[in-house]
Amino acid sequence: MKIAVLRETAEGERRVAATPETAKKFIALGATVAVEAGAGGTASIADADYAAAGASVADRAATLAGADIVLGVQGPDAAALAGVAPGAWLVASLNPFADRARIEGYAAAGLEALAMEFMPRITRAQSMDILSSQSNLSGYKAVLDAAATYGRAFPMMMTAAGTVSAARVFVMGVGVAGLQAIATARRLGAQVSATDVRSATKEQIQSLGAKPIFVENVKGIEGEGSGGYAGEMSPEYQAAQAELVSGHIAKQDIVITTALIPGRPAPRLISAAQVASMRPGSVIVDLAVEAGGNVEGAVAGETVVVNGVSIVGHRNVPSRLAADASALFSRNLFNFLSAFWDKESGKPVLDAEIGDAIRLTQGGKVVNARLLG
Ligand code: NAI
Repeated sequence: MKIAVLRETAEGERRVAATPETAKKFIALGATVAVEAGAGGTASIADADYAAAGASVADRAATLAGADIVLGVQGPDAAALAGVAPGAWLVASLNPFADRARIEGYAAAGLEALAMEFMPRITRAQSMDILSSQSNLSGYKAVLDAAATYGRAFPMMMTAAGTVSAARVFVMGVGVAGLQAIATARRLGAQVSATDVRSATKEQIQSLGAKPIFVENVKGIEGEGSGGYAGEMSPEYQAAQAELVSGHIAKQDIVITTALIPGRPAPRLISAAQVASMRPGSVIVDLAVEAGGNVEGAVAGETVVVNGVSIVGHRNVPSRLAADASALFSRNLFNFLSAFWDKESGKPVLDAEIGDAIRLTQGGKVVNARLLG
């Protein structure tokens, strides 16, 4: 069983899909691990560290030659995977809805592509969930990015020269990223409030010492779809939410938006008029910018300044913390493959609950229900 670890080629991708720690653990399971030279460089991991862990380090062709499992952060084109064993697995974050043509390419090449972002949200798969591990870091980094752009301090400071008041931070969307954003902003001393469509988050917000801002008494208030994800809200709800948020946003210094709806464009939470209602010097960080954006005027990969309000739209935020993001991503992949490791055959054998959820291609065809449905 040969596991290959590729150097990422997507623009701006600094993460790597295995660390020396996980390489060592795969080897302990009986696998051999080949790492493409330079794969860990942007995540502060030297080739020598992989070699010391027992992996071989080689060029891409030698890394892929005869590989049974290829690990990636993002999926390369099928053409870049020439030389792997027939029916090899590609295990990565594959962006299945947006990168459909690439997925067809995996099918045509006879690869079995496994999309880690389709991991079901069940208790036993929590340690395999890349969306959680990466969103957590994004939520943290969003607050630091906001603080770096904001021309004022976060905590209240009483000095001999006078008092600096605490920054007011509003977090919209309280999933994994939002919860970490609240916790980080609180640690920096900000006054924090937050909102979500899922009413279950109200207590979570309070328990982190922040103030919940919620629409009350409107149809469809519970807001929870399947698997703990949000669903799309009723028009009544959306109107009530817009009104509530309008009044609140005008008084905020920092807004962090994280709202996503799986398989759909991100919901629009902040209009241009609401941006215009904020004080000059305020900062909005839109973590959903690559899914279409929560904020009108946000541009992926740019910081746009409108009437003195900065709208920050970094792409691939986890990659901005490449070392930690790689460590957690790599552990997610190891936790997944090792949980299914069959000692007798010396390879992972998936069960239907997880296998069917994440398998995109098999036997030359696209087989995933979410892509076929
Ligand atoms: P997400 O990244 O899909 O969305 C982020 C947040 O935006 C969610 O809280 C969502 O409710 C919110 N949102 C969507 N539309 C909105 C709107 N119009 N206005 C305001 N907020 C809106 O969600 P994420 O972070 O992946 O987590 C969702 C839930 O799943 C959480 O409760 C989390 O604890 C749970 N979860 C469970 C796991 C497991 O059991 N294995 C693993 C990871 C998360």
